[in-house]
Amino acid sequence: MRNYKTLNVGRSVIALTMACVLMACAPNEKKQVTEPTLRAGIGQDFFIGVAVNSDQMNGTDSVGAALIAKQFNSIVPENCMKSESIHPEENRYDWTDADAYVDFGTKHHMFVIGHCLIWHSQLASWFCVDDKGNNVSPKVLKQRMKKHITTIMTRYKGRVNGWDVVNEALLDNGAYRPSKFYEILGAEFIPYAFKCAHEADPDAELYYNDYSMHIPAKQQGALRIVKSIKEYGTPITGIGMQSHCNMDGPSVTEVEEAIKTLSSTGCSLMVTEFDLSAIPFPKDMSGAGIEQAGQYSEIYNPYPTALPDSVAQQWETRMKGYFDVYRQHKDVIKRVTVWGLTDGASWRNDWPVAGRTDYATLFDRTYKAKTFTQTLMK
Ligand code: G3I
Repeated sequence: MRNYKTLNVGRSVIALTMACVLMACAPNEKKQVTEPTLRAGIGQDFFIGVAVNSDQMNGTDSVGAALIAKQFNSIVPENCMKSESIHPEENRYDWTDADAYVDFGTKHHMFVIGHCLIWHSQLASWFCVDDKGNNVSPKVLKQRMKKHITTIMTRYKGRVNGWDVVNEALLDNGAYRPSKFYEILGAEFIPYAFKCAHEADPDAELYYNDYSMHIPAKQQGALRIVKSIKEYGTPITGIGMQSHCNMDGPSVTEVEEAIKTLSSTGCSLMVTEFDLSAIPFPKDMSGAGIEQAGQYSEIYNPYPTALPDSVAQQWETRMKGYFDVYRQHKDVIKRVTVWGLTDGASWRNDWPVAGRTDYATLFDRTYKAKTFTQTLMK
């Protein structure tokens, strides 16, 4: 927990300095007024984070970068640390975007998250197979996992504070997902990944991260994973509840039950990929798996130019419900991260149906804070 403590001390120092600045003013002098921000508001209850893209980190989107630095105290990379991006060939790493990401977080004194070390999706094509495309042996896969995890974590040791070590290893019914990792190593691939991560950086926080965690069967799967990691003799710090929400669910009650069940493990909890889609979600789809792709139809893209006030109102009410619960459980929730800075930058415009206009984040397409967002700045 070194990292939280360090940053909390930092926050106290900032608050003290601000107080001194105000007290030092003579009665008739104009008092220094600080602009409200997320980091000064809800960011005092838990880290308030955002998923950032490469344009924001490499300077192409300088407006976005400035907004991130001003509003948030934690960041996670939306894509650039996934194995197909950072480790595209067995003997080649591409550090360009990941280095820019970590430099940005370091420069702005943020709680920096690494996402994600072991994931079946966006997986580098070489990772689990040999030259002929056959699965590698368990021994070879373990060697590759260890090298992948160790190389990346060592490069950013002391600068990336927490890692999504394993991402989305469960199906919604709580069973293990039949990924290449599971096929070759069985359930051991999960605790093994945590062991490698802990050895690479013993001070880093280590998380298991998954979507649809409001489903009780999936929570039981997560509990099983936490137990298996502990029995393996290696630590796990927290569980990430991705929280890709829509207007139909999950309910606030389901979210609260999930928080209670998952925190019974003794792990801290994080809302890691929050967004709330304002447009219709195809009934036959669920979760956040990008393998699902719905057919475009206008009924799934009802507000291509602007969100009607009545829908914006419903969206805000749902947002308030979720954030009220997060705040009520701030003893166990250590971070809430929004998946995407603005509505324009959100993956939701293209998932689960491509080519739509969604309104799922805290800032609109002109980088303006929404009415609800302003309430989080208090
Ligand atoms: O990089 C290519 C680019 O070269 C190409 O021109 C372009 C054309 O489509 O595609 C680019 O890749 C896209 C990539 O995002 C970067 O923009 C992929 O097609 C697209 O599939 C990919 O989507 C990302 C998705 O994960 C898959 O990795 C989303 O941006 C990202 O928001 C989403 O994030 C995941 C979390 O990591 C895990 N949890 C679920 C969440 C949503 O799926």
